[in-house]
Amino acid sequence: MSRLDSFIRRMQAQRDCINHVAGQVHGLPGPILELGLGNGRTYDHLRELFPGRDIYVFERQVRAHPDCIPPDNRLFLGDITDTLPRARAQLGPTAMLAHSDLGTGDKQANEELGRFLGPALDALMAPGGLVLANQKLHVARWTRLPEPPGVKPDRYFIYRVGD
Ligand SMILES: C[S@@+](CC[C@H](N)C(=O)[O-])C[C@H]1O[C@@H](n2cnc3c(N)ncnc32)[C@H](O)[C@@H]1O
Repeated sequence: MSRLDSFIRRMQAQRDCINHVAGQVHGLPGPILELGLGNGRTYDHLRELFPGRDIYVFERQVRAHPDCIPPDNRLFLGDITDTLPRARAQLGPTAMLAHSDLGTGDKQANEELGRFLGPALDALMAPGGLVLANQKLHVARWTRLPEPPGVKPDRYFIYRVGD
């Protein structure tokens, strides 16, 4: 498979998984968390799916498309090791959906990030919330859900937060 095909499949999987969980979150209270703004593509998609809803964004350095920059009061600027605990103090365990697209090609760094991310994100999630991540996360009270049809297993990870 060419790198172009692989990139397209990754983007399709991301969009299909977000669309798949969106229907399960509509109508339920609680903010949405976007971890990793990047150039703002998935943030923009979430804004379109959830108009008017609070979407809090976590990013260490904003370099997004100018149309996709969140308002200051919805942006946690800095490394997530600092900002997730700060968000926990501000928001409490209220989030109904979290989408995490962090990490790099460095396997060891990703595993380290994952060890921090699971529990730190869990502290922000409401019971019954959904977590969508580009890496496997281990939290005892989360249950892994199947990917939507057409998405290759382990390309994206969907979890439901337990009580
Ligand atoms: C792949 S990009 C996200 C792309 C985004 N989903 C989009 O659609 O444009 C990952 C982003 O996560 C951010 N990031 C990675 N590790 C981070 C960390 N530890 N704390 C805060 N931001 C981080 C990077 O700066 C980068 O902008």
